[in-house]
Amino acid sequence: MGKTEKNELLSETVSERRKYKVKTTEEAKKITLAFLKPILLDIKSLSLGLPEIHDRYDNWNVPVLDNSTVIGSVSIDAFSGKINEELSTKLSLFKKRAVTVNNKQTGKTVKEKFKFIVSNLSNTIVEGKAENALRNIPEQSVDLIFTSPPYYNARKEYSEYESYEEYLDTMRDIIQQCKRVLINGKFFVINSSHVLVPRASRNESSTRIPVPFDLHQIFMDEGFEFVDDIIWQKPEGAGWASGRGRRFSADRNPMQYKAVPVTEYVMVYRKKPAPLIDNFIRKNPNQDIVLKSKIDDDYEKTNVWYISPARDKRHPAIFPNELAEKVIKYYSFVNDVVLDPFGGIGTTAKSAAKLGRRFYSIESSTQYVSATRSDLEINQNLLNNNFDYTYLNLTNLPDVEPKKSLRHTIKELLANGVTSEELIQRLNKD
Ligand SMILES: C[S@@+](CC[C@H](N)C(=O)[O-])C[C@H]1O[C@@H](n2cnc3c(N)ncnc32)[C@H](O)[C@@H]1O
Repeated sequence: MGKTEKNELLSETVSERRKYKVKTTEEAKKITLAFLKPILLDIKSLSLGLPEIHDRYDNWNVPVLDNSTVIGSVSIDAFSGKINEELSTKLSLFKKRAVTVNNKQTGKTVKEKFKFIVSNLSNTIVEGKAENALRNIPEQSVDLIFTSPPYYNARKEYSEYESYEEYLDTMRDIIQQCKRVLINGKFFVINSSHVLVPRASRNESSTRIPVPFDLHQIFMDEGFEFVDDIIWQKPEGAGWASGRGRRFSADRNPMQYKAVPVTEYVMVYRKKPAPLIDNFIRKNPNQDIVLKSKIDDDYEKTNVWYISPARDKRHPAIFPNELAEKVIKYYSFVNDVVLDPFGGIGTTAKSAAKLGRRFYSIESSTQYVSATRSDLEINQNLLNNNFDYTYLNLTNLPDVEPKKSLRHTIKELLANGVTSEELIQRLNKD
């Protein structure tokens, strides 16, 4: 049964039981069109989406579209059949939004037909910098990206940037390259956390940099769709190690309060243009793979995942296997290619191989690459072909300087005394 039919059936039973005046989706559409009459001539390609009954509030919600883009909705009281104007988009707003939609449509390419892509990448471990090595990967050849970048300068043992802006420029460049290699509509899952900058002296206070929020802005600028913010929650003990909250715990003065951090973000994005997920399931030429990839009952139901951090003497900040395995299972199919541009000691790669996926791992440190390789080799010795791989040394590739972003440029101008009014004037000149 299709979604429309199912919804029709559900709404009809509720409508009848409660004796609504408006019983069917067709009636809801008719009332909506009558309400929109004054603006119908102004919006050329107006159409209505699927009316849905909200049985909790006894009202119908009818989406209104222009050129297949939702420009608002109309709410109808199910008992009286009257428009609930407070809950409906204003007529003037429909008109304004339609203008924006149509401006955007100009010059837009025609929607491409969905094409199922099977990548021909095989298991690969790359030694080199992500910003250089990613340029070696063909366009649309990766099915899932799962990674945890350096959190700015939190771990000087493996990366130190001159400034936060320089760090964000590098991240933007890497996110752009990742977008290029990711297949349209597939997922980019990134783990990061805010960073504590310790105080320089007794007279100063420590500060925090909201790295995940700035990365989020880059994903939005670069045309990803925001899907989920998953909170990775660790046991309380893990947070006290940061030192945050100790002062308050001892003195208990108001305003000194600082929450002990026990969470990290696992942010989920999808590459646009994003075809309906259903395409990747129904149009997969290998339905056996679809069956094999199904997830069993004990999956994470909410966006808070309780997982203990992992430890390994060889690396200070690795993924717990449980985290990597959940992400890989939820966002990729068996045989898909999973890329980690900041591979560390290869947790993503090893989890991918364990789950029958292919892996592509990039890591700049020779030491961590060696650790990854020796773990993979141990598994190969168990005659498990999923762990076979090609090693590429790309440390000699020329360094790519990331472009300075608009945000970075504006920050510099403001720091050099240009006022925001002057900036806006300059930008509006042309
Ligand atoms: C947070 S750790 C990732 C750990 C990994 N998730 C694991 O489970 O082992 C970030 C990694 O990025 C690496 N790294 C830093 N800058 C890099 C760059 N420009 N290109 C590639 N790797 C880089 C660091 O050496 C570090 O191993």
